[in-house]
Amino acid sequence: MATKLANLIDTDKLTQAQAAAELKRLAKLIAEHDRRYYQEDKPTVSDAEYDALRHRNDAIEARFPELIREDSPSRHVGAAPTGRFRKVRHAVPMLSLDNAFAEQDVLDFAARIGRFLKLGEDAKIDFTAEPKIDGLSMSLRYEDGELVTAATRGDGAEGEDVTANIRTLHDVPHKLRGRHVPTVCEVRGEVYMTKHAFLALNERQKAAGEQVFANPRNSAAGSLRQKDPKITAARPLGFFAYGWGEMSEMPAKTQSAMIAWFETCGFRTNPLTRLRHSVEELIAFHRKTEEERAELDYDIDGVVYKVDRIDWQERLGFVSRSPRWAVAHKFPAERAMTVLKDIEIQVGRTGALTPVGKLEPVGVGGVIVQNVTLHNEDYIKGVGGGGEVLREGRDIRIGDTVIIQRAGDVIPQVVDVVIDKRPRSAKPYHFPTKCPCPLHTDVVREETATGEEGARARCTGEFACPFQKIEHLKLFAARRAFDIEGLGEKQIEFFFERGWVKEPADIFTLAERNRKIKLEDQEGYGETSVRNLFAAIEERRRIALDRFIFALGIRHVGDTTALALARGYGSWEAFHDACLAVTKGDQDAIAEMDALDQIGDTVIQAIAAYFSESHNRGIVERLTKEVTILDAEKPKRDTAIAGKTVVFTGALEKMTRDEAKAMAERLGAKVSGSVSKKTDLVVAGPGAGSKLTDAKKHGVKVISEEEWLKLIG
Ligand code: IVH
Repeated sequence: MATKLANLIDTDKLTQAQAAAELKRLAKLIAEHDRRYYQEDKPTVSDAEYDALRHRNDAIEARFPELIREDSPSRHVGAAPTGRFRKVRHAVPMLSLDNAFAEQDVLDFAARIGRFLKLGEDAKIDFTAEPKIDGLSMSLRYEDGELVTAATRGDGAEGEDVTANIRTLHDVPHKLRGRHVPTVCEVRGEVYMTKHAFLALNERQKAAGEQVFANPRNSAAGSLRQKDPKITAARPLGFFAYGWGEMSEMPAKTQSAMIAWFETCGFRTNPLTRLRHSVEELIAFHRKTEEERAELDYDIDGVVYKVDRIDWQERLGFVSRSPRWAVAHKFPAERAMTVLKDIEIQVGRTGALTPVGKLEPVGVGGVIVQNVTLHNEDYIKGVGGGGEVLREGRDIRIGDTVIIQRAGDVIPQVVDVVIDKRPRSAKPYHFPTKCPCPLHTDVVREETATGEEGARARCTGEFACPFQKIEHLKLFAARRAFDIEGLGEKQIEFFFERGWVKEPADIFTLAERNRKIKLEDQEGYGETSVRNLFAAIEERRRIALDRFIFALGIRHVGDTTALALARGYGSWEAFHDACLAVTKGDQDAIAEMDALDQIGDTVIQAIAAYFSESHNRGIVERLTKEVTILDAEKPKRDTAIAGKTVVFTGALEKMTRDEAKAMAERLGAKVSGSVSKKTDLVVAGPGAGSKLTDAKKHGVKVISEEEWLKLIG
């Protein structure tokens, strides 16, 4: 995904129309990066690039507050949960931390706090300082001292219920120790995997021919997302407690006393946590921790400072997605030097050609790196393309000694070329003009939204290109699409290479054709596994509309967009008719699609491009004969709350929050987790807190649960 910042207009020179377009683009781009990071555990940009996108978004919003979008990244954290586990709405949202990179940022952070609290120039502020663990945040809810729910962060408002898996962690007590335990107590902290456990796990995975993980964070995430808690139990995961969510009573008045209290309850807290009394001491803590970093048995990517006094934390509150009272002081990305041995081209599902650098293997931050993304032709030539990662004026040649950087758990990138070490034999790389696929189609450079030539090269073979076909089949069977158990990437390759599955519909005729194929005679298969596979395929003959739309592999139609389309049209027939009309250029159909939430030009053009290909129409037609597509529940348009943005806060007595949310959505409302001037209605129950204050501030109507029930009839 292009994240070029270099060629963009300065935020202070944007016109209002440009700003609106840019905010739309950024919302989509950041949401996609969030999805890759939080749901797939496969980020494709460095933290620095991601932060730059968020900064740009914030800067534009600061200039044009009236353009702040409902789906603005400043109003959300992370991506919506993956749908595999039950969803849990957090009683108190799980937010994110603002980052500091330079010492000056830390000084600014402390000064801001002093100003906000109106403390004099020399006022003393105590902070706790602790490592920032590179793991997954978790919220553990205890009621009457018993663990009732463990939830991932998800999008900050709603996470996934992973209670059964979390119960297998030694560091998580099932019952809180101590006599005076509050009735409701949400303990928050980080789940992580130690470096040595990660290396051992990868060895085991490799030996068993299973997926290996890129780093401890991904392996912790993968281990938590297991359907079978026994698998989680076999993966050594740790937990450090460092914060809290809803608390019916506060057992302490300071952050440091809370940490001590967590220990008395039976939790582990990070042993490096310290109380510090000045910014100088914080910076010294940062330096010392960075020195100790390599020796720690868990990955950390910075340190976190938090105002110690909880009454001050409460006064300081939050700015959009992060608290004013805490900051993450990050470490610079880890780097290593190695030799670029070769460049290979990979063809993705959408035909995008990505050059991949093959490296002399090298260790960076505890991980052995052998491949590095080279983004595109411009990046290799040193003329942009890939953000501002590569040092200016450098081009990359095969045989070069390169400096690679691994920031957090991101795919490593080349940041510099050591020119002194460039051998005479180093060859400039000529980007292929023909696709490496057997069709050898011409490679074209993609156009950008403004019609200029973009950096990304693309094979023009579409689904006739075997690489694209196979990638589409993998997507089709993947978890977020048809989710066919026993039909992973390897099996798809196996069937495709033998010509047994050439397009999605073939999956559903496999069983019928098996008299000839005799899958049970193939290596790796037996009668039971074949029976299970066919049963799993049969089970998916009935499929939800959004999954079906996503599985078609239309460019720019990810799972969230597919859901928006499914909700917008309700049935496959309605959606399909709309697609064909849009493809013909029917203006009414285009306007109708454009009016749907989250759908814009790019998606509409991609849909038209897809359905204008007779080959694709054939694939779809054959597939629809094999499956039953279930209608999506269409939100109602003629209700009192249709089109309104509603926020629930406090306790509801007649229904759970999830029920209330689902009902509001069915009746055509949008449910948001935070109150802004765009909110139409706040439904407040007992215990409502800051959202009520926000509602007053923005003049938003507040009603009780009873009034709400009356309103929706
Ligand atoms: S405090 C209101 N403390 O960093 C947010 N977070 O970028 C409170 N993290 O989602 C978070 N170590 O997953 C806090 N010692 C620490 C942390 C920590 C790691 C993670 C956490 C959070 C993310 C924020």
